[in-house]
Amino acid sequence: MRVLFIGDIVGHGGRKAVQALSPVLQEEYGCDFCIANGENMAGGNGMTKPLLAEFTPEQVDVFTNGDHTWDQREFPGQIDALTNVLRPANFHASQPGRGWGVFTARNGVKVGVINLIGRVFIKLNTESPFDLADKAIEEISQETPVIFVDFHGEATSEKIALGHYLDGRVTAVIGTHTHVPTGDSRILPKGTAFQCDAGMVGSRDSVLGRDTAAVIENFRTGMPMRFGVCDDHVTLCGLVVTFDSETGRATEIQRVMRDFS
Ligand SMILES: [Fe+2]
Ligand SMILES: [Fe+2]
Repeated sequence: MRVLFIGDIVGHGGRKAVQALSPVLQEEYGCDFCIANGENMAGGNGMTKPLLAEFTPEQVDVFTNGDHTWDQREFPGQIDALTNVLRPANFHASQPGRGWGVFTARNGVKVGVINLIGRVFIKLNTESPFDLADKAIEEISQETPVIFVDFHGEATSEKIALGHYLDGRVTAVIGTHTHVPTGDSRILPKGTAFQCDAGMVGSRDSVLGRDTAAVIENFRTGMPMRFGVCDDHVTLCGLVVTFDSETGRATEIQRVMRDFS
């Protein structure tokens, strides 16, 4: 069985690219399920119910989140009713939404998805992603051995450590957040697919999806700037994981990059 995993969707251009390309890629690679990180879909900052409603289940089955989860003021009041949306599991338990779930793929296989966020170079008050992963796996394993983890983190060390910690217990540990796809895709010794970062769906002529000129000016002068989203020349970055749906162990991980505009 195969699953398509798509990195951070940035703004309008990112949404349009995923809506057009995800069904094409899923058909091409023979995928039955798609997970996408949506934390930047609303003008770069968070997500909203109306924007999520633009997507059909054929395009994306489950949306994960990150440090931008609560950027849109109305979203905390919306997330509990959105059954296909996760927020990091290691946010405090009192926060709205849920951090993991079990979903049904088009071929009938149950797919567990866990969303976690790192604690290195991300200034948020969160709990241990390692401990929350244990808790989520314990619960999901009662239903299915197929488990995908989106680990939204900045530090490669933290991501690799979690990959090894979960090796043999989940199907894949895939990083998001840096918006840059890494070249370290591999199957870990006990059968978990791993890649430090899936990349983004955003402009390849930008700085992480934002207007280049504003980001350069901020770095050059230190003057606070408004970073608008750049929609020119959008590329979709993600990966396809092949696995045994009986055991949940991965056999192949392939990087996917497709130009949209
Ligand atoms: Fe992001
Ligand atoms: Fe992020």
